[in-house]
Amino acid sequence: MEEKQQYFEEVLRNRYSCRKFKGDMVPEESIKKILEMGRLAPTAKNKQPFHIYVVTKAEGLAKIDEVSPCRYNAPLVFIVCASHDEAWSDGVSNSFEMDASIVATHMLLEASNIGVDNIWVEMFDRKKTKEVFNIPEGLMPVILLPMGYSDTSASPMHNTRKTLEELVTFI
Ligand SMILES: Cc1cc2nc3c(=O)[nH]c(=O)nc-3n(C[C@H](O)[C@H](O)[C@H](O)COP(=O)(O)O)c2cc1C
Repeated sequence: MEEKQQYFEEVLRNRYSCRKFKGDMVPEESIKKILEMGRLAPTAKNKQPFHIYVVTKAEGLAKIDEVSPCRYNAPLVFIVCASHDEAWSDGVSNSFEMDASIVATHMLLEASNIGVDNIWVEMFDRKKTKEVFNIPEGLMPVILLPMGYSDTSASPMHNTRKTLEELVTFI
């Protein structure tokens, strides 16, 4: 059990944002594992208001480049979408972006767990993404997850974190 805990923590500590991918494709089996861990993510009231598009064809990757400067040559991009109308809401707040974020976090950590490098991308044009991929009305692309195999070993911003003292207050 302790070994498993240590391994999990190692995955969390070692994961970093990859900004230079080799062209090598991620095997289908790995893509399925990443998707499966996304499927298991918790969502508010278990509404599961999300849908994931898997982009691997050259035509689709070219469209990603039209909507974002942040593909970094990744051969695989997941578009994590969520529905505002299907998500839990109390009339004031709506959980669709939080739900999508948890799904994406599960996917990104599973990717790192199986040796697939990855990055979370928010810098993309949501409206244009809907248009170029014909994403249905009511479904909003929330996060892009470019994935593949790193062409470099390090990311400049990894390990630059505030201290717990700065981030936490016990009250
Ligand atoms: C919500 C969110 C949005 C992000 N958007 C982008 C982005 O659009 N482009 C990019 O290159 N990195 C993006 N990142 C990656 C962050 O810059 C990165 O996680 C952070 O600098 C810490 O570095 P690390 O992931 O290597 O530890 C994003 C990360 C998060 C969590």
